[in-house]
Amino acid sequence: MDLFEEYRQQQTWRDWPQYLQHIPFKSSDVVVDLGCSVGGVSSLFASRVKQVVGVDLNRSFIDFCQQHQSANQTFIHCDFDNIDYQSLAEINGVWASFSLSYLPVPLDYLTKLHSIIQPGGWIALLDVACFISANLSLDSVYYDKVRQFELLSAQSGCYDFNFGDKMQLMLQQVGFEISYVDNDVTDLELNFSGAARADVVQGWSARLERMQKLRELLGGDYSCFCAEFLANLQSPQHQQRGCVKYVVAKKAQ
Ligand SMILES: C[S@@+](CC[C@H](N)C(=O)[O-])C[C@H]1O[C@@H](n2cnc3c(N)ncnc32)[C@H](O)[C@@H]1O
Repeated sequence: MDLFEEYRQQQTWRDWPQYLQHIPFKSSDVVVDLGCSVGGVSSLFASRVKQVVGVDLNRSFIDFCQQHQSANQTFIHCDFDNIDYQSLAEINGVWASFSLSYLPVPLDYLTKLHSIIQPGGWIALLDVACFISANLSLDSVYYDKVRQFELLSAQSGCYDFNFGDKMQLMLQQVGFEISYVDNDVTDLELNFSGAARADVVQGWSARLERMQKLRELLGGDYSCFCAEFLANLQSPQHQQRGCVKYVVAKKAQ
């Protein structure tokens, strides 16, 4: 399974309409989807607001989105840091699902977003919190190492596996008012109780295949770790442990 297929598959596991119902968007809004990937959320917004701008670093994702875009959608192939916000229409809302966790200094970026969002506008962030370790059995011999790996990854500025735990405070720090929080969102793939579906296990297997840094850390133990991790996902005893968080916030009028 390539990355495109993985991301397309993931769209089917997310309950996007459930998230959208907590956002105070208006039909006149211009919305930016940061890290739009294959455009699932951008399409949902397109049928609800005036204009949607999807941004992603991955050329093939943007090509795909552009081939399928509706009249009120624009897709930009760009790094978040290089978006020319001045050239866009006045922005009322920003959606970022599982994407700001890639930023080395998300607080600075949220400060920028606060400055470009129109008064009365909104931001909605959905992201993970320890989503590898929290899907591993607490009894696992790998548990401490994986937790350590997640913490070090954030410190190195590579990827923050725990961004979900930080985003509410960061939004408040940069001046947004929090309007909705769910610290334990159920997600078919990332945060669930009971045995995972076969297609979800396949998706996780593909993700583990491309986790090069974790593979390097665990060395010769990596295949045993993967087998144990996938077995835990398929166990009826598997427990939802708060790995997905969702925050909606507003900019004052
Ligand atoms: C885990 S995916 C999430 C995709 C989608 N938002 C979703 O929830 O299904 C993260 C996306 O963010 C994009 N991305 C990561 N870092 C980026 C950056 N610095 N600039 C632009 N896009 C980035 C990736 O290419 C990828 O498509």
